[in-house]
Order: sequence, then C-alpha cells, then structure tokens
Amino acid sequence: MNPPFDVPALLDQLTVEEKASLVSGQGFWWTRAVERLGIPSIMVTDGPHGLRKQDASGDHVGLGGSVAATCFPTASALGSSWDVDLVRRVGEAIGAEARSQDVSVVLGPGINIKRSPLCGRNFEYLSEDPLLSGELGAAMVEGIQSQGVGTSLKHYAVNNQEADRLRVSADLDDRPLREIYLAGFERVVRQARPWTVMCSYNRINGVYASQDRWLLTDVLRGEWGFDGLVVSDWGAVDDPVAAVAAGLDLEMPSTGGASAARIVDAVAAGDLAEAVLDTAVERLLHLLERTSSDTASDDAVDAGMAELVDAHHALARAAAADCIVLLENGPAGWRRTRGVRSTPSGLAPAVIGGAGTVDMDRVPLLPLRLPSGGRLAVIGEFARTPRFQGAGSSKVNPTQVDDALRALRAGVAADVTVDFAAGFGVDDPTVDTTALLAEAVQIARGADVAVAFLGLPPSYESEGYDRDHLDLPAGQVAVLEAVAEVSEGVVVVLANGGVVTVAGWEHHADAIVDAWLGGQASGGAVADVLLGTVNPSGRLAETIAVRLADTPAYLNFPGEDGHVRYGEGLHVGYRHHDAVDQQVSYPFGHGLSYTTFSYADLAVRPLDPTAEPAGHWLAAERLAVSVTVTNTGPVEGKEVVQLYVGAPGASVSRPVRELKNFTRVALAPGEAQEVTFTLQERDLSYWSTRADGWVLEPGPFEMSVGASSRDLRLTTTVTVDGPPLALPLDRSSTLAEWLDHPVGHEVLVDALRRSPAGDLTPMLDDPDQVRMLGSFPLARLATMLGPALGDDIVDALLAQLDG
Ligand code: BGC
Repeated sequence: MNPPFDVPALLDQLTVEEKASLVSGQGFWWTRAVERLGIPSIMVTDGPHGLRKQDASGDHVGLGGSVAATCFPTASALGSSWDVDLVRRVGEAIGAEARSQDVSVVLGPGINIKRSPLCGRNFEYLSEDPLLSGELGAAMVEGIQSQGVGTSLKHYAVNNQEADRLRVSADLDDRPLREIYLAGFERVVRQARPWTVMCSYNRINGVYASQDRWLLTDVLRGEWGFDGLVVSDWGAVDDPVAAVAAGLDLEMPSTGGASAARIVDAVAAGDLAEAVLDTAVERLLHLLERTSSDTASDDAVDAGMAELVDAHHALARAAAADCIVLLENGPAGWRRTRGVRSTPSGLAPAVIGGAGTVDMDRVPLLPLRLPSGGRLAVIGEFARTPRFQGAGSSKVNPTQVDDALRALRAGVAADVTVDFAAGFGVDDPTVDTTALLAEAVQIARGADVAVAFLGLPPSYESEGYDRDHLDLPAGQVAVLEAVAEVSEGVVVVLANGGVVTVAGWEHHADAIVDAWLGGQASGGAVADVLLGTVNPSGRLAETIAVRLADTPAYLNFPGEDGHVRYGEGLHVGYRHHDAVDQQVSYPFGHGLSYTTFSYADLAVRPLDPTAEPAGHWLAAERLAVSVTVTNTGPVEGKEVVQLYVGAPGASVSRPVRELKNFTRVALAPGEAQEVTFTLQERDLSYWSTRADGWVLEPGPFEMSVGASSRDLRLTTTVTVDGPPLALPLDRSSTLAEWLDHPVGHEVLVDALRRSPAGDLTPMLDDPDQVRMLGSFPLARLATMLGPALGDDIVDALLAQLDG
C-alpha cells in the first residue's frame, strides 16, 4: 500500500467486526480487505517447489489447475544437495516468479522431520535431521524473501504423517520435541526471519497446534523472537476463538464469516480480550506493510514470467543434477559377484569390491563410456514419461518437461544407438508386464549397457495419505531381473519422493542412481550425470534402511485412536541405526562421486587463540574444527564434508553421533582446501527437562569428519571443562541427585552431619547403600527417617540452595 501504512491509526479506526473479519481469509488464497480504510487484500499461494498460483477458474478446494511456473526439484531432492547456496538460488527463482505474478507470500518451505519413511509427504520435506532441514530451510526462506516476497515456514509443528493428519495427537517427550522436531524451525526462525509461519493440522500432546499458546506464543515469539504472522494450515482451526487467544493471526481459507462471528461474540461476552484480537490484526497489518513496501534486496529480479522461464529451466536442470545421489557404482557385471553385501557401500569407486572378488582394475560403470558404434538400452516408462513431482498442494503446472530418453539421445555420440522399451506402465503397477517385459529383454540383449528407469508410481505417495511399504512395484523388479539376466552392465535410476528399499533387487544392479523427484528438468539432469557432464555430489538426507521393520518408528506409526506415540524418542533416522548398531543399505550422508577425496589434519581449537590448552576448553568459548580435504581422483568434483559430534561421557541418553555442521566444496583434481566449522555451546548441549533449558555438560566430546555418517575419516576427542552440572533441586529430587549437585551435596552432607539423631554421614560411606537409597526422593527419606531428617530440615536445605 502506498503511501506507508499507519498501523496504529488503522487499528484505531477498525470496528470489532472488521478486526474479526481480518483474521480469517477471503476465499482460498487471499487475505480480507477493508476497502473503506484502504486495507488491501494480498495473495498467498503454494508452494515450496515452484509456484502454484491458481487462475480465476481455480476450484474451491484449491487443487485445480494453476498458471505455468518452473517446477524445481522437490524438497527430498533439494535436501540431498546439502547445498545452501543452491537452495538459496532456487528460492530466489521461486521468489522472482512469485513477484512476477503478484503473489505476496509463498507457502513454504516445509521442514518437518522425516520421522518414518512411510510419510506420504516426505517428498515435501528435507531430511531426517534437524540441522540439515534447518540450514536448507533457512536458505530457501532467504532466497524467496530476497525478492520482496514472504514465506510461510511449515508445518509448525510435529506434523510427521498424513494418517489422520487433521486430528492426530503427536505424543512426545520434551527432549525429542526440542532437539529433533522444533530445532529446525528454531534455526530457520532465528537465522532467516520468515515473514509467516504456518501452524500444522495435528495436535501435540493433545493440543491442536492452531490453539497451542505455548507453541505459537511462548516458544515461537517469546524464546525465538519471531516477529511475523502465524497462519493456519488450510482448515486447521478447530476453535477460532481459542486460536486467536493462543497466538494465531490468520485463519485460512475463508470460513464464510463463521469464525468472525464467533470472535465478535467472544469479545462481546468478555471471553476474548479485544487487545488480543488487536494483536493479531496488528500482525496482519504489519505483513501487509511488508508486502506492500518493496523490501526486496538489490538483486531482486523484476521480470515477467515469460522472461524468466528459460533461465529458470536451466537452473532447475543444474539443481536437479546436484541433487542426484550416486548410491552405487561398480564395474559392469559386479552385481554377479557381490551377493549379499556385508558392509554398506560407502565405498569410493577405487575400493569397490572389498573382499577381493572383483578385478580392482576394472572401471566403474558410470559415467557411461559407450564405444563407437555401441548401443545403450533404456528401459522403463519413467525414462519417457518422467515422474518429477509429488501430488497434492505442492503440484506445479510446469513450463516444460524434459525426459531422460530424449536427453540421452541428444547427449550420446552420433554413432551410438539408444533403444527404448517401456517395460511397465507408470500409473498401474499391477499391469501385466509380460509383453512389455519381453520387449525390454529383447533390447537389453547385446546392448553395451542397460539403464533401467524405475520408481514409485504417482499413486504411491501423496499429501493426504501415507505409504504402507517401501518397495518398488513387483512388476518393475521382475523387469529389472529379466534385463539383468541378459545384460553386461546394468544401471538403475530411481524416481521417488520418499525412499525405496533396495535390498530385494540391488543384486541386479551394478550402479544405482537416486534421482528423487527432481522437478521439470530432471530428465536432462539424469542424462548429465549418466554421461558424466555432471559429477554427482548429492548425499542422502535420510537413511535407506534394509527393511521397513528396521526403521525407528516402525512399531509406533501411524498410531491409533487419534494418538501416535513417538516412542523412539530422540533416536530418529541415523540416530536410531547407530544406537542399535544396525546395518543399513545406505547410511545418512552417503553418496558417491566420479572422483575420490582424502581427509587430513583434523584440528580443534578455541576460536579465541589466547584461550585454553589444546584439547580442553571452557563451555562459553566457541570452537573451530578444521580439516583439509583433497580431490585425489581424476576429475573435478564436489565433496560434502560432514562434522558429527558424540558425547560418550554424557549422564543422559544421547545419540551416538549427530550432524553438527557440513559444507560442500568444489575441488579440481589434486586441489586441497581447508574447511573450518564453528561450534558453539548450544551445538554440544542437550535439552534438560529438569532444567527446562539447554544444558552443556562438561566432559569428553568425540568429533568426527567424513563423507557420511558411516564413513568417518578422522576423529578426535576434546574435553569441555566446567563445573559439574547444577540442575535444579526440589523436594522430589533423589538422594543421588542431591549428592551429584555441586552445592546440594555440600548442604545435604552438612545437614546429615548435624542431624538431631547424631552424625548420619557414615551412611554415605557405604557405596552399595548409597546406590540402593539413591533413587529415594529426599522428601520420602525425610518421611522414613522421621526427625533425623525431618521436613523442616529439607525446607532449610532448599532455602539454603535458594540463598
Ligand atoms: C497443506 C499446506 C498447503 C495448504 C494450501 C494444505 O492442505 O497442508 O501445505 O500450503 O494446503 O494449499
């Protein structure tokens, strides 16, 4: 709005009815206007992977057609890039398209944790790890907002399944809530300051997110300093009055005036303070102010969609290529010798074959080296009809779509033939493949290499429902098996939003490429990787378990009777597999390259050079962790350097290791680069329920750098110095907790020594007795010991602590 918005003056002039009308939407995609005061209505629209702006004829549930826009790689693909700069660039492009379409807020990114690989919406989420989700989510917010367009960080919070998503209560403890499920949101809010946050549909420990004052106000604003607007997910509000009271500022979509009427009544009845409604309206007006004044950065792009699409298609192709994860890359025929793999394949090409079963001189199958006059067999309908995005509210109407078949034909030498057989139908996994299979076998026979494009049929994964298994359709596996029988070299290229298990068919493939749902240009990107134009550098943002039954939420997903118990606690994804020391097909962080990298000179030092002797530091200091990475192979490549930290001496349960930093470096052959990560107190801390806060416990910390969570190249242990933890004590704290407490110990021993029944400290001399009594709350000991340690003494102890 021009001239500038006078928020206080507008608030003064609005009637209660008008204010109540403003806190819910107008139609599906617009905020409500108040024309008499010049308050405009703005458009918000999906979604995280590209714009889904519905034209005027859009259907009322909002899932119909939309204007053509660039479809970028989905979040599960972008998550696999581990590349904040790339994600920022994609965000800038989405922001520029939104700007060109007068869209004020893009409804994304989605950063929920992939708790179970079965979640139907995992293709819209970045990772099983909160640091990776948070860093990439922040980059997306920064990119979009740099164009003067807002974002909506979603779905806040603990929305990790589609089953019963509008009602289910995610029941979890404080530590996983803070350390896993809120941590990514916290990072994005603090780092990138999204203009809006979208609350989720579900309940958390029984309370609807849309009505959870603790979540929307105390934590989001009070602790993290969020200064934007909270919008509901579409249809997430159960009680509009309770929602406004909790800190929800905008209910979407329109409820046809029903919510406004209830809010007006509640204000009239004194059930909702008008000042609370004012706060919500004020935040909406601030959003309108932000979207109407040009907040774009200097490099914001002002162009019409038609001028943007070609450059954005090229960006989509480069992005999709950088998201591709090369899971496996053995020499042709390697599959026949490897049988059941005993170690995960985090192996560089030079050492593939481990047990000496393979000729080490043979070259990995990828990139394809097709002889002059050679023949490539391309099998699988996905090569011709690519699956590049998921279903539901994030579905983009792409400006164009590349397919891998055409891109391969364009990319190989003129004297190489590319034959194609569909092998199976994309949409109907149950289709009788007999004839298609025979055709596939026929073209594979005698070809130099067969590339099988497999993947999840579109109906397998979508917003709104979860998957019930992780397998490829049996018909596709049958085609692969038959093709492998007659082929020398076999490559599998996967198109999938959530992960698929490989254990049932991996022995039919010499090389496996996971291309995810890579957006409209993914076909070209796959060809770039297969032909070696691009050296793959994607890394798994989620573990590929051997079996669904191995995944951490297996026994507790998706719950029943309106509740889902997060029984695995902190141990989500790789945290679980590492805790139980379980073999996985491919670990978190894994991804091969056409080159190799070495790691050397791991060093940890305080950032302040005058600080502490090596290996020890005080909690309040910041640490620098550095390592030198060298490209030791034949071609230019990008390595994702990962830093994991474990706390082996912790007094509470902590994951074996957790990702604490990462970066992606591009290195020419022979080139070396020193990478330095910074760690601060919070990075080493855990959430203490007793302290109701983050706590850094002194002791040893194991720091490892490497190329995946199971390919740790260098490790060092450093010790955090500091006084022992002093967690709060009260009457129900146990004897052991009092004795562990630096001050509590002293005052308790003193009180025991001066007990009316004589010196009781000898009872502490017997370690077995102390151990046995250790779990007794002090108040219970007082009851049992009578006047020897009476209630009055406990009161005095607590008073001393407070003093
Ligand atoms: C989805 C949101 C989306 C909204 C608007 C909801 O069903 O959960 O992610 O932004 O619809 O389409």
